[in-house]
Amino acid sequence: MNTLEAIRTRRSTRKYQKKPVNAQMIDWVVEAGRYAPSGGNSQSSHFFVITDPDVLSELKDMVYNAFLNMEVKEGMYRSLIGSIQKAKSGKKDFFYEAPCLIVVANQKNYGNNLADTGCVIENMMLAANELDLGSCWINQLKWLNEDPTLVSYFMRLGMKDEERIYGAMALGFADTIDGLPEREPLKRTGNEVKYI
Ligand SMILES: Cc1cc2nc3c(=O)[nH]c(=O)nc-3n(C[C@H](O)[C@H](O)[C@H](O)COP(=O)(O)O)c2cc1C
Repeated sequence: MNTLEAIRTRRSTRKYQKKPVNAQMIDWVVEAGRYAPSGGNSQSSHFFVITDPDVLSELKDMVYNAFLNMEVKEGMYRSLIGSIQKAKSGKKDFFYEAPCLIVVANQKNYGNNLADTGCVIENMMLAANELDLGSCWINQLKWLNEDPTLVSYFMRLGMKDEERIYGAMALGFADTIDGLPEREPLKRTGNEVKYI
């Protein structure tokens, strides 16, 4: 698969097989993230590659409890409202039960923290597509990146005082008939272009 094809056929996977992804494949994906560009070559992204089922389960519970205690407010981002409503309806599968979750933290006082995370995660999603793996951006940990329970949990996992989470990505084999991720691009109706 060449780069343009990987870009065009990348889709979000929201149903995963339980089958674990082998360490070599995970490393290739993470390396793609580490090779992303960064503002001023800061290379300050901090990757947490989580495959431990107990940690995945604890994180899932913490995210669920955090949303359960939040109220929907006027003007809130609609996906955030969706997460609060999902928790209040008893659903917990914010990471879609993927066998691997890659969480990306960065310096909280660095102006390009979110932009760098975007580059990192897109690189990892393209690498996943190339490797026939499914992936999906998971934003809940970013929304909850000042939640004291989650901050102290990630500090115990190695996050530094001055860091916060800016994005995460689910990774695994797609739960489809052929085991391959969906690759039919969604129709482009936005992303306007003007050539000058
Ligand atoms: C910044 C960002 C945040 C996103 N957050 C989530 C998320 O929390 N959960 C989710 O299922 N998808 C999330 N997505 C995936 C989008 O919903 C998805 O890319 C979009 O619907 C287009 O579908 P496609 O990726 O299959 O082309 C996110 C994507 C981006 C770029």
